[in-house]
Amino acid sequence: MIDEKGLRTDGRRPNELRPIKMEVGVLSNADGSAYIEQGKSKVLAAVYGPRELHPRHLALPDRAILRCRYHMAPFSVEERKSPAPSRREIELSKVIREALEPAIFLEKFPRTSIDIFIEVLQADGGTRCAGTTAAALALADAGIPMRDLVAACAAGKVDGVLVLDLNDIEDKEGEADMPVSYMPNLGLISLLQMDGSLTFEEFKQVLNLALEGCKQIYKLQKEALKAKYVAIKEEVETCLQS
Ligand code: CDP
Repeated sequence: MIDEKGLRTDGRRPNELRPIKMEVGVLSNADGSAYIEQGKSKVLAAVYGPRELHPRHLALPDRAILRCRYHMAPFSVEERKSPAPSRREIELSKVIREALEPAIFLEKFPRTSIDIFIEVLQADGGTRCAGTTAAALALADAGIPMRDLVAACAAGKVDGVLVLDLNDIEDKEGEADMPVSYMPNLGLISLLQMDGSLTFEEFKQVLNLALEGCKQIYKLQKEALKAKYVAIKEEVETCLQS
């Protein structure tokens, strides 16, 4: 998994992220949306709300409820995945919701719901993190007031080497995988899971590596949000000139 030059299966150095592309406002029928490509993983997120809640008995008098569905398309993995929600997808929907919840001013929208749909189009590891990153962008794109963006990234251990942003094979063959989500302005970690085993020293180093990855992703998120408004401004200017 690590060659004699210390490079990984896809040629990356241990502390290097995969190439990342992000775009905001990609779906016209959702209130907010975002698309992310992280290496070969491709994930779409759509947000609706705050909107009237059905069934109504779920409504809370003092805040909005946040609902999240993480779903893998049947064609997103090598072996066709059943479209029905798996145990894993139910778990990931829950942890992603919990990762995003502290970022949103839910108390501003009592008796409503904010709904997030995450669709994995192609999976090559790290999809819960890519889904969280895209969902945070989609929430911002929907104009939902937020305390901070949420950036997510995994780090772990492969062939005895601590590595950032594991791909599918590194996730499956490696010794440990730790997905983390982080809100840099608030200094808050809202997701921390770990698969595999690490010494306490390694745990601290892997966590720091993941946080560094989150900070890089956070910068890209802000650029993606700005890019949308630059495009709108240019469009308006062209309209005014003609
Ligand atoms: O995607 P993430 O790393 O957040 O979650 P995981 O449960 O650790 O899954 C790692 C990878 O396994 C996924 O990204 C997919 O590439 C792959 N996988 C798969 O091939 N078939 C599934 N039914 C589920 C996951």
